[in-house]
Amino acid sequence: MPNCAKHLLAIALLGLLSACPRQQQSEPATWTWPEQLPAGAAADAVRYGEALLNQTYKHLGPQAEKPELRLTGNALNCSNCHHQAGKQQNAMGFVGINGRYPAYYAPLDREVTLAERVNACFARSLNARAPLPEDGPEMQGILAYMRWLSEAVPAGQTPPGSGLPEIQLLDRPADPVQGQSLYNYHCAACHAPDGKGVLRDAAQPASGYTFPPVAGPDSYSTGSNLARLSVLARYIQANMPLGRAVLNNEDATDIAAFILQLDRPDYADAGKDYPNPATRPADVPYGPYPDPSKAQQHQLGPYTPDLSGLR
Ligand code: HEC
Ligand code: HEC
Repeated sequence: MPNCAKHLLAIALLGLLSACPRQQQSEPATWTWPEQLPAGAAADAVRYGEALLNQTYKHLGPQAEKPELRLTGNALNCSNCHHQAGKQQNAMGFVGINGRYPAYYAPLDREVTLAERVNACFARSLNARAPLPEDGPEMQGILAYMRWLSEAVPAGQTPPGSGLPEIQLLDRPADPVQGQSLYNYHCAACHAPDGKGVLRDAAQPASGYTFPPVAGPDSYSTGSNLARLSVLARYIQANMPLGRAVLNNEDATDIAAFILQLDRPDYADAGKDYPNPATRPADVPYGPYPDPSKAQQHQLGPYTPDLSGLR
């Protein structure tokens, strides 16, 4: 065999060998993140990002230590919804999220980066007055944390248990009256009968919640995905009552309907949302609706094929 052919063979074999780790990487993604933090200063950024998600009220809330970081309009934490700062499955977790962005975001009808998606939840669920600057240590920390959480997941793959489990939609309108009595039984002990939650320290309203508000002026805005009936019902069925998620789809949906009939802050830019009607979900709680006479059906269902919007 001529020398150069031997070389080529050796290179081909090396290529095969070095392909092996890649082979492993393409195995189905699992819900895991690295056991260890990265080395050095990178670990500080990851830790800061995790702290921001777990104690948002403290670092970015109305009484944050640094006045320039008093950005949120409520005292919620990201982790009140993305439990354990995104480490928990079935609660809109962040494992693998880094490889899924940029991604299409229907409310704006365009692709957004992960930083833009974080700022979307910041504006809509934390009711923030201004976005986190993309090059600041806060956004950089959140992104470093999400990157680290995603390291074990091959790009483009979604580990099982991401997002929220599907729910069977009802073939009748959801019933907020029935939902209220179920709420009183299953939820009010923690979230209070009026939905306004329980503060850590009643004398310090900005000191955060032991049980976060599901409604009222300190809750998430109408522009949060959690203000959509189907999304809230899925979240409730998968996660609430906390530690004992036992509700069937009918009860979870009726409770969601009760919660969404209570007052909450309006999302200021709602009128600009979903410029493309073809990607507008049927249960967005605000108009403009193609047929305004069906507003109530958009809010309570049933999400039958004759109703405009995705289901
Ligand atoms: C009131 C509940 C709530 C709070 C608080 C909240 N989010 Fe969200 N977030 C949601 C919902 C609901 C979704 C959409 C999930 C879905 O549709 O599957 C979402 C989606 C996201 C996504 C996209 C997830 C994906 O898989 O594509 C990111 C990133 C995100 N939120 C970041 C944050 C950050 C960072 C914070 C804190 C600054 C935060 N969220 C606070 C409810 C919340
Ligand atoms: C044992 C107390 C407890 C019970 C009972 C309970 N929750 Fe929760 N709920 C919590 C806690 C604590 C959180 C925040 C979780 C976290 O930060 O990890 C939460 C978060 C939430 C959230 C997202 C955050 C927010 O402020 O909106 C919703 C919605 C919610 N619960 C609805 C319900 C519903 C509906 C029920 C009844 C079916 C219920 N919960 C029962 C303790 C409880």
